Amino acid sequence: MVSRVISLDTFDFVAFGGTGDLARRKLLPALYQRDRAGQIVGDTRIIATARAHMTSEAYRDLARTAIETHVKAGEREADTLDRFLARLEFVSVDVTGETGWDDLGLLLKPGAERVRAFYLATSPDLFGVISAKLGAHGLITPETRVVIEKPVGKSLASAKVVNDAVGQVFEEHQIYRIDHYLGKETVQNLMALRFGNALFEPIWNAAHIDHVQLTVAESIGVEGRGGYYDTAGALRDMVQNHMLQLLCLVAMEPPSSLDADAVRDEKLKILKSLKPINESNVGTLTVRGQYEAGASAQGPVPGYLEEIGAKQSANETFVALKAEIANWRWAGTPFYLRSGKRLAQRVSEIVVAFRPIPHSIFDGSAGPIQPNQLVIRLQPDEGVKLQIMIKDPGPGGMRLRAVPLDMSFAESFSGRNPDAYERLVMDVVRGNPTLFMRRDEVEAAWTWVDPILNAWASTNMLPRSYRAGTWGPSAGVALIERDGRTWHEDGI
Ligand code: BG6
Repeated sequence: MVSRVISLDTFDFVAFGGTGDLARRKLLPALYQRDRAGQIVGDTRIIATARAHMTSEAYRDLARTAIETHVKAGEREADTLDRFLARLEFVSVDVTGETGWDDLGLLLKPGAERVRAFYLATSPDLFGVISAKLGAHGLITPETRVVIEKPVGKSLASAKVVNDAVGQVFEEHQIYRIDHYLGKETVQNLMALRFGNALFEPIWNAAHIDHVQLTVAESIGVEGRGGYYDTAGALRDMVQNHMLQLLCLVAMEPPSSLDADAVRDEKLKILKSLKPINESNVGTLTVRGQYEAGASAQGPVPGYLEEIGAKQSANETFVALKAEIANWRWAGTPFYLRSGKRLAQRVSEIVVAFRPIPHSIFDGSAGPIQPNQLVIRLQPDEGVKLQIMIKDPGPGGMRLRAVPLDMSFAESFSGRNPDAYERLVMDVVRGNPTLFMRRDEVEAAWTWVDPILNAWASTNMLPRSYRAGTWGPSAGVALIERDGRTWHEDGI
């Protein structure tokens, strides 16, 4: 089946932080790809702002370089690129001061009835300030949306400050809190798998599922983002948002429709059902790690401290934890989460481990009967694998073997796999917030994460070191093995 492109009405897209890393690596390539696909039409304008002074011509050069760096050569046709670059304008705006706002207003004036999307690809401390200025300068129309990037706060209290500030100016339905994991094809596939098939839902509960594993492992280090990362750490950077969102999609009740609030209501119930982790159990339910020098596939790599140029840091670059959901569906089925930087491999996957069969009719010569496993691989090599037992073919008695029913997306579907930002940015323009986080979800996630952070601090639970290029500290393995289970390593 070929993908369908629904073109959008002409719109204006304004990126604050337009010269920054996110704009170059993600936004410009995503918008270019959507233009190339025919989704962006007419005289749709993309306006970049930053404090720097530069002409629109110079910005187009910056954008050309960004696209040449981040879009594959085979996907860059000269005429498409020229058409895209012609949409770009640059306005210098001092977001904390007064300069530039009128220029932006003048530029936006013709076409005031269009959808207008402000994308705040800036430091989170500026979300409130920029929103206030947009309001004060009369730039918010009924068709305006604002997109804010993570992190929304560093704690529940600071998240509320950000949400309050943005909420002073924008209605909740105009605020798009982006979590790019929700735009990944395989993450959306999780909903297709669960709710587009009759097969799984009846057994999608604690009676049939022994446990669930969520792994988001990265082989890269902090990549020049040490300033931010050292104040965040793996729990805030990956678990509070991406991983809890994945957990919600695995665990939530079937929503009545794909309507944004129907889905978000169900996710919220899961976040509110997570059993608290605090001083009394943080030592057994969580593990923190920090990498020291080691090796990646490309050769030797420095340790975290060296990478961020610090003598010491109590920040974690790895976290593993055991989460439990206190509701009827999931009581007794733990969710094990792990995420880290400089791990052995880049792999993100969800493993649903079913319970063993209740009774075996086979004798000992059949060999061990392994419980079924459903593995949803988010990246790389997106796909779904269901491990089942079959009879080993040929004579020799009834011998059983575990084999995967294996569906690789690359093999099954031709065409490119769009980046998450392509889908999400178009959803903003289209006005579909289903794959974005509502205020109460973000705050419920912090309500669960805050006590873990506090308990680490009050019990002085420091990260354990691990060699770069391994699977994290041995305590991360012990966390699950203590329960008689193991991290899934097939294909890793
Ligand atoms: C970001 C984190 O949200 O997600 C980064 O801030 C992390 O630290 C990145 O590297 C991972 O995203 P992806 O899409 O490469 O898995």
